[in-house]
Amino acid sequence: MLKIKTSNPEETFEFGKKLGNKLNPGDIVCLQGDLGAGKTSLAKGICAGLGVTVDITSPTYTIVNEYRGRMRVNHMDLYRISKEQQLTDIGFEDYIYGDGVSIIEWPDKSGTLMPDNYLDINMKGQGNDREIRIIPQANKFIGLITELKKDADPIN
Ligand SMILES: Nc1ncnc2c1ncn2[C@@H]1O[C@H](COP(=O)(O)OP(=O)(O)OP(=O)(O)O)[C@@H](O)[C@H]1O
Ligand SMILES: [Mg+2]
Repeated sequence: MLKIKTSNPEETFEFGKKLGNKLNPGDIVCLQGDLGAGKTSLAKGICAGLGVTVDITSPTYTIVNEYRGRMRVNHMDLYRISKEQQLTDIGFEDYIYGDGVSIIEWPDKSGTLMPDNYLDINMKGQGNDREIRIIPQANKFIGLITELKKDADPIN
């Protein structure tokens, strides 16, 4: 497990960028945390690290926003999903098991469609302070955690 602390949205973005830089096609990143925890702020950094250069907006109403960087990037927000059928209708499984990177806010809303192998990121905090915990839910992410630990500021 890796724990990172940030003190403003820019630091969260920068950490996301480092992470995005290390992702591979097919990777799934689940972003958990309360409303306003900073999931979209982190997702913007991850997208930047994946080489997406256009502005990223929250997929709150669209559910999925698709981008193209070094690879396809699917940024999802499942907050408004109330039935699994809605996910089936948008082709959720085609997105997450395709060759792009999927970044999913509110992944717990996916019910039984929740993937087994993903990078689990949990965010919490108050004011401008955030604690970001990263836990690999797949062996393929263990190396990435080790590399991010090497990069991490020693005070964290
Ligand atoms: N250290 C920090 N990291 C990230 N965001 C921060 C930080 N400090 C303050 N903020 C602020 O917290 C808010 C986070 O909003 P953001 O949309 O990223 O949250 P979210 O988790 O995606 O919310 P939602 O569940 O509504 O999608 C922003 O207004 C951002 O400026
Ligand atoms: Mg959000």
